[in-house]
Amino acid sequence: MVVENYKELSQKSAQMFYQSIINKRAINLGLATGGTPVGFYQELVKFLKGHDMTECIRTFNLDEYIGLSKGNPNSFYTFMNDHFYKPLNLSDDQTFIPNGKADDLEDESSQYETLIQSYGGIDLQLLGVGENGHIGFNEPGSHFEQRTHVVNLKPSTVQANARFFNSIKDVPKKAITMGIGTILDAKEIIVIANGEHKAEAIYQLVHGEKSRNWPITALKGHSNVTVILDEAAANKVKLRQAT
Ligand code: GLP
Repeated sequence: MVVENYKELSQKSAQMFYQSIINKRAINLGLATGGTPVGFYQELVKFLKGHDMTECIRTFNLDEYIGLSKGNPNSFYTFMNDHFYKPLNLSDDQTFIPNGKADDLEDESSQYETLIQSYGGIDLQLLGVGENGHIGFNEPGSHFEQRTHVVNLKPSTVQANARFFNSIKDVPKKAITMGIGTILDAKEIIVIANGEHKAEAIYQLVHGEKSRNWPITALKGHSNVTVILDEAAANKVKLRQAT
């Protein structure tokens, strides 16, 4: 789906989430952080605020930096709290995100995986994409079967995310992320991307071969994926003319 601008991309993706939420009595949402979904959260909060349907929502985030506490302004927990949990008054027993400060990170990873399964898996997953095609923090070279695990971030990912930190030195070099196998288990996936810097990753998703060099291409094996793009992110994709 190619939309005109970022506002429309945010509205369209939020609307699809809202529809799924109102159609279900209970829903497990897989959620993403980064610059791209900020507008999505604003729109979804607008749709949901004032309705009493938020009780039926459970959220599971894709990833978290290792070494940042929940209260750290750059943690993904803080991002989620500011953009989604707090505005909707979601409680701690509805909102889950890996603990990047856990003493035993391997154990934290497998417990997070078990937690998702114990609630019946993810119904609807939101994904952004890194310029190098990463999803969650699954960097190029990742195996498509992997479950939640600890990852070393590529220098290009550290560089891309440095804009949120005071200095590149402050950007953690490791994270816990749902694996591609975990992501592929979601019943439905919505990918959002805007800007020309995402165009190559989107080209690989639409026209490329399934390849570990481009983690996003793992989604080719999933039966229910919607990709919502602005024109810049879609500029390498050969679009069919409407007839
Ligand atoms: C981070 C997150 C991803 C996100 C990516 C792109 O690395 N782990 O989930 O998709 O950044 O972020 P942005 O939307 O800021 O371009």
